[in-house]
Amino acid sequence: MVKSGGRAGYQEWAAHFAALAPAVTLRFWDDAAPEEVDYAVVWDPEPGRLAAMPKLRCIFGAGAGVDLITRDPDFPRHIPLVRMTPAGAAQRMGDYVCWAALHLLRQGRRMALSQAKAAWEDFSCASAPDIRLGIMGLGVMGSRAAAMLQGLGFPVHGWSRSEKQLPGVTDFVGDAALADFLAVTDLLVCLLPDTQATAGILNAGLFAGLPRGAWLINAGRGKQQVLPDILAALDDGTLAGAVLDVFEPEPLAADSPAWGHPGLTITPHVASLPPRRERAAWVAQCIAGIEAGRWPDKLYNPELGY
Ligand code: NDP
Ligand code: OXD
Repeated sequence: MVKSGGRAGYQEWAAHFAALAPAVTLRFWDDAAPEEVDYAVVWDPEPGRLAAMPKLRCIFGAGAGVDLITRDPDFPRHIPLVRMTPAGAAQRMGDYVCWAALHLLRQGRRMALSQAKAAWEDFSCASAPDIRLGIMGLGVMGSRAAAMLQGLGFPVHGWSRSEKQLPGVTDFVGDAALADFLAVTDLLVCLLPDTQATAGILNAGLFAGLPRGAWLINAGRGKQQVLPDILAALDDGTLAGAVLDVFEPEPLAADSPAWGHPGLTITPHVASLPPRRERAAWVAQCIAGIEAGRWPDKLYNPELGY
């Protein structure tokens, strides 16, 4: 097996694999002969490298989103690509979305700005049961977030491509239901994958379909948001506040006006990053299954693009 990425991180992966899967020989990406590789763990591999591995049986994404792998024009579509979805990944995303939702309700950004000025100001804050929360994308991440947000008291509904039956979650399905979904969404959470259909979906037209003064959280992908539209919507009151974890490109440019916007809280793509030990354990468990003839179910679907 090979691991792409930096050498520093590789040492840690290697130590975990030595303990968790001693039968697997791990090599750093640049140190392995391509014709010897059976498995690869990658996040943003150089184009063409995977296609040059003739024995490759399975690719593991080092993250849940695999868009940086599949954008390679030579990405070998016929080889199974497993998304990184240990239970801890969805839990961490749920942690993040719960934090971001309460941060918005409690005006966390404004309070931090007041604190920086040593200003003791009045804050009237909304409460979860009064806020209709809509999640775009009810997959591994969205469904766990939906359960955790309900635990905080939010009424939760969701929008996805196919029908769902998640406890307590009202379901809106497909493009035809998007307007109805938005009309009842006071706090919009985006947990969609990066596909042609989702590119630029968080734009001025979509925000106009939300109740005025809605809140936005995006932890899906930066390509899904039109950042100037978000800043304009915050300025004119269409949106009351936003928390963004993802940008295009990353890192967000140091001179972006987004950094200083008083209505916007920025986190640096940290919503859900399980520790390497947890991710190595997931890969080791998947390989044990594959070697025994059992394929993991969280596979990338090249037809759907996620
Ligand atoms: P899944 O593939 O499990 O779920 C994706 C969801 O989006 C599904 O419910 C799917 O619908 C829905 N969907 C996809 N396309 C459309 C569409 N065109 N219209 C409506 N719904 C659509 O992915 P995960 O939940 O594991 O992850 C989602 C994304 O979250 C990742 O792709 C990644 O971009 C992002 N992510 C970000 C992280 C971070 O730290 N910021 C960490 C981990 C993930 P259906 O169920 O019908 O297929
Ligand atoms: C992601 C991840 O897909 O970090 O963003 O897992």
